[in-house]
Amino acid sequence: MYLEVESLEKRYGHFAPSVSDLSFSLGQGELLGLLGPSGCGKTTTLRMISGLVQATSGKIKVGGQDVTRLPTYRRNMGVMFQSYALFPHMTIAENVAFGLQMRKARHADIAKRVESALAMVHLSGVAERKPRELSGGQQQRVALARALVIEPDILLLDEPLSNLDAKLRDNMRGEIRDIQQRLRMTTVFVTHDQTEAMAICDRIIVMNRGKLEQIGTPHDIYENPATPMVAEFVGRINRLEGQWRSDGAIAVGDSLLQVKDGGGTGRVLIMIRPHRIDLGAWGTASAGSAEENTIAGTIRHVTYVGDTFQYEVATTGGLLQVEKATSSMADPFQPGDAVTLRWKTRDTLTFSTEIAG
Ligand SMILES: Nc1ncnc2c1ncn2[C@@H]1O[C@H](COP(=O)(O)OP(=O)(O)O)[C@@H](O)[C@H]1O
Ligand SMILES: [Mg+2]
Repeated sequence: MYLEVESLEKRYGHFAPSVSDLSFSLGQGELLGLLGPSGCGKTTTLRMISGLVQATSGKIKVGGQDVTRLPTYRRNMGVMFQSYALFPHMTIAENVAFGLQMRKARHADIAKRVESALAMVHLSGVAERKPRELSGGQQQRVALARALVIEPDILLLDEPLSNLDAKLRDNMRGEIRDIQQRLRMTTVFVTHDQTEAMAICDRIIVMNRGKLEQIGTPHDIYENPATPMVAEFVGRINRLEGQWRSDGAIAVGDSLLQVKDGGGTGRVLIMIRPHRIDLGAWGTASAGSAEENTIAGTIRHVTYVGDTFQYEVATTGGLLQVEKATSSMADPFQPGDAVTLRWKTRDTLTFSTEIAG
C-alpha cells in the first residue's frame, strides 16, 4: 500500500475530536473519495495528510516512510482547495511556477514543467494572461496545474469542483479522472456530493462525525451500505420498521418480507430504494417468493418530475416512496388506486441494531 493512515486523530481543545480512529490504506494510482456531510472531518483529514495540520495522534505513511511529523514542504503533496486563490498580480505561468520556485527548482526546468502542466489541463494558450482574464473553470484548471507541476507523490483535492456550475463540474470531474489515470497519481478527493464521488472514485470512504462509517467501491457503498447513515447519504431510500420472526422472515404491517441474509430477533429497520420498487395494479402480483417481496398499498400522491413519477404509497407497514420512469408508464396510477408493490429480496436492506436512528 502506498498511503497508509493508522488510527489518525485530531482534537481541537476540549471539543469532541474532529477526526478519530481513522484508518485506511491506498494503493499507488488509486483515487479515493472522502465523502460525508459538512463538518464530518474531511478537510481536517486532508490537511493532516498534507501536513498543514498536525495530527494529535496516529500515523501517516507514504511508500512505507512515516511522514506524520514531517513539515508540509518535505511531504511532496499537491494540494488543491475549493477556494483556489490564484495570485491576481501574477500571470498564469507565474502562478503555476510558484511552487517550483519555492522548492528551488532550476530555472530551465521550471519553464519546461510549467509548460507541460498547462498543456495537461488544456491551457497552453493562456500562460501570459492574468487570472481575472480567465473563466471560473479555467482558473480551476490553473489551480490543478499548480498542484500537478511539482510532480507530487500524492494529489489532495478538497471540494475542487464546488464553485463551478453544474455542467462545468461534470466536465471537470471527467478531466480530473483522466489526468489522474494518465499519471497514475495516487489521489484523495474530498466531496460532499455522492454522485461526484461515485462517478470518479475507485473507492470511497463515507465519514460521519469524524469517523469512518464505511470504505468500499461505489457499488459496495450503494448496494451494501454498512449503516443506515451511509444508505441515506448516497441516495433516496425508504425506511420501514419490522419484527424478526423465528423463521428468518420479517413481519411488517400485515405482510411478511424475505431478506437476503436473514436472521435476528426483536425489531429491525428495513430500507428500500424508491426506484427499486415496482408498482402493479392490485391483484396482478403473485404471492411473494424467496426472490421477491410483495406488499399491498394505496396510492396517496403522485408527483410528475419530468423523467420520473414519484409516488407516495400507503401500506400497513407505513408510507413508501416509489419512483418510476415516466417512459415506462404512459398511464400513471392515480391517488386512491389499489396497487401491489414488489421488489427483489436482495434490495431489502436490514439493520437490526439501528432501529432508533
Ligand atoms: N481550526 C479549528 N479549530 C476548531 N475546530 C475546528 C477547526 N477546524 C475544523 N474544526 C472542526 O472540526 C470539525 C470538522 O471540520 P472539517 O474537517 O472542516 O469538516 P468538513 O471538511 O467535512 O466539512 C468541525 O466540527 C469543525 O468545526
Ligand atoms: Mg471541508
